[in-house]
Amino acid sequence: MKKDVVLWTGAGQIGMAIARRVGYGKKIIVGDKNKNNAESIAKIMNDAGFDCLPIVVDISSRADILKMIKIGQEFGDIKMLINSAGVSPSQAPIEAILKVDLYGTAVLLEEVGKVIKEGGVGVTISSQSGHRMPALTPEQDELLATTPTEKLLALDMLQPKNIKDTLHAYQLAKRCNEKRVMAESVKWGEKGARINSISPGIIVTPLAIDEFNGPRGDFYKNMFAKCPAGRPGTADEVANVAELLMSEKGAFITGADFLIDGGATASYFYGPLKPEK
Ligand SMILES: NC(=O)c1ccc[n+]([C@@H]2O[C@H](COP(=O)([O-])OP(=O)(O)OC[C@H]3O[C@@H](n4cnc5c(N)ncnc54)[C@H](O)[C@@H]3O)[C@@H](O)[C@H]2O)c1
Repeated sequence: MKKDVVLWTGAGQIGMAIARRVGYGKKIIVGDKNKNNAESIAKIMNDAGFDCLPIVVDISSRADILKMIKIGQEFGDIKMLINSAGVSPSQAPIEAILKVDLYGTAVLLEEVGKVIKEGGVGVTISSQSGHRMPALTPEQDELLATTPTEKLLALDMLQPKNIKDTLHAYQLAKRCNEKRVMAESVKWGEKGARINSISPGIIVTPLAIDEFNGPRGDFYKNMFAKCPAGRPGTADEVANVAELLMSEKGAFITGADFLIDGGATASYFYGPLKPEK
């Protein structure tokens, strides 16, 4: 029996929280570069009544993305994309962050945009980090939004001499996610489909725990302590936003980015988290 298909990349906590809200009754293909992550999260989902197939996918490989799409199409129409794959500043060097978070996300949005069916909808997880970085020029924004995927990593602004550290690379990647979503939403719209991004603040997951234990641990702990919410968030709170965006109630929302960070960005610009000059 054919089913509507959900492509879900990044078998982590945020992705699972979203998949549980929107994936029931559908075939869920969960792809992760780490086989063990994909298999163990698929087991949790299948033990809870979902129909979830784990596969190995590295989103920085176009061939892997095309393989995932092909596997998905064997089960039915591709109607949803959840992209929650990513590496954080403490997990990977600059090149890997740009290859996965920036280029990989761009290729995924492009390729899934070619096959998404009418009424389809997607979310990609960006980050509050992209909002904290100062504004880029309109020209830089447009380059991030519209440069052909295979030329993205050759942009001058993404060369090592122009990137301070892994946090800066991550911020650029996440800013790029938001801009790509805007540009892609135009193409997805031609197919009657929608795509949005969500920019979470600190959400307790293995990725965030790596940050708490990494070189910027104190910075992150201070960030949630001094944000208006006074705590980190949970993957389920991110899923609340995703559920709205991916449901009929979100039918007028596309090409947009949603900040869900307990007010950390607000505090960073206008409150106690503001960096001293
Ligand atoms: N947790 C946070 O505080 C936070 C905040 C803002 C943004 N994010 C973003 O949310 C997304 C999901 O992260 P999470 O917190 O759920 O972390 P997580 O560690 O629970 O899950 C991330 C998953 O992505 C997988 N992955 C990494 N590189 C991959 C690749 N090249 N191809 C396929 N899979 C890959 C990892 O193996 C892991 O299973 C990431 O993009 C992250 O940058 C997280």
